[in-house]
Amino acid sequence: KKVVLAYSGGLDTSIILKWLQTTYGCEVVTFTADLGQGEELEPARRKAELLGIRPENIFIEDLREEFVRDYVFPMFRANAVYEGIYLLGTSIARPLIAKKQIEIAERVGADAVCHGATGKGNDQVRFELGYYALKPDVTVIAPWREWDLRSREQLIAFAEQHQIPIAKDKRGESPFSVDANLLHASSEGKVLEDPAVEVPDYVYSRTLSPEEAPDTPTIVTIGFERGDAVSIDGEALSPATLLAKLNELGHANGIGRLDLVENRFVGMKSRGMYETPGGTILLPAHRAIESITLDRGAAHLKDQLMPQYAELIYNGFWFSPEREMLQALIDKSQEKVTGEVRLKLYKGGVHVIGRTSPHSLYDQDLVTFEEGAVAYDHRDAAGFIKLNALRLRTLAQRKKREG
Ligand code: ARG
Ligand code: SIN
Repeated sequence: KKVVLAYSGGLDTSIILKWLQTTYGCEVVTFTADLGQGEELEPARRKAELLGIRPENIFIEDLREEFVRDYVFPMFRANAVYEGIYLLGTSIARPLIAKKQIEIAERVGADAVCHGATGKGNDQVRFELGYYALKPDVTVIAPWREWDLRSREQLIAFAEQHQIPIAKDKRGESPFSVDANLLHASSEGKVLEDPAVEVPDYVYSRTLSPEEAPDTPTIVTIGFERGDAVSIDGEALSPATLLAKLNELGHANGIGRLDLVENRFVGMKSRGMYETPGGTILLPAHRAIESITLDRGAAHLKDQLMPQYAELIYNGFWFSPEREMLQALIDKSQEKVTGEVRLKLYKGGVHVIGRTSPHSLYDQDLVTFEEGAVAYDHRDAAGFIKLNALRLRTLAQRKKREG
């Protein structure tokens, strides 16, 4: 029996690693990914070796470019937000991790995969829907749903018993749970559980507070090609480098903090705090370039479909036919979404101040109140309005008749 574990190198997944070895007696293969969470990966390798994993069973991959290019950017083409506001920073990373775990499982001949998500959250669903979609006969091990380590003390005792190194600050209860990648950092649980109580300052890690941000605005230009951001201030950047640069700008200007109560797929409401500095700049910039390059019919249709697309990602259905169908429609809409958007970043705010495109549909001659355009005859408007008013007048007449 062989199992591929999504291994962060932290205390919890190290305990899972030992638990797999001792309870299941199986050979453990570790997979550690760099998704831009801002942690070194080599310590995870050393720790896995220390816990008895053979070097050929340790997999470490830098997935930052793939994450942004094939997951974050396709999602931003849709302007996806869950429940009107959440930029899906955790949700969008899970399918990629699941896919890599399954690839490694196939390569090393493992029949099982394992993750460290709890039995109460969305992440277990996202990981496992990904696993099953890509390897229908896979065995899934979810230790948090299976073991009888019920408290922090029991976890620490288990770690001590198995010589798992414990950082000093990990001995006590951690004050909240964090998930981080290049798109966002999210914090949930513990001190954040009461939605009436403000998030303490020390929870923020990716942004200055708007109050601390500079008193002079930052002006920045983002270049788009076919719906994807490709440059900042004229400099071409790879997807991950570009998002990292937007994160820096967002950090400095106090942009992208969100305190939210959301509906989890498994049924309960949960309170979280998200920091998505770069994404919070990218979304209005993308909408701005769409505003001059998309036809109204195309724009409104994709806006109607967006909540459904966002929910699919939130609920873990990235590898579903309906998500792929919607993606094809969204990608098709982006063919002419090319150009530049100028933004002003100021104390937590993102303000669009200009947009240009070689494919612009904006026609100043058509819209101007001054004398212009032959394509538009004012007199046509009278008939257009009258026919549109026909049923409203009919209704009004009935109301007058019948009260
Ligand atoms: N509620 C967010 C989501 O479902 C984040 C979940 C993970 N975050 C965490 N701090 N454990 O996408
Ligand atoms: C977890 O349960 O592991 C984190 C929260 C979530 O998945 O919603």
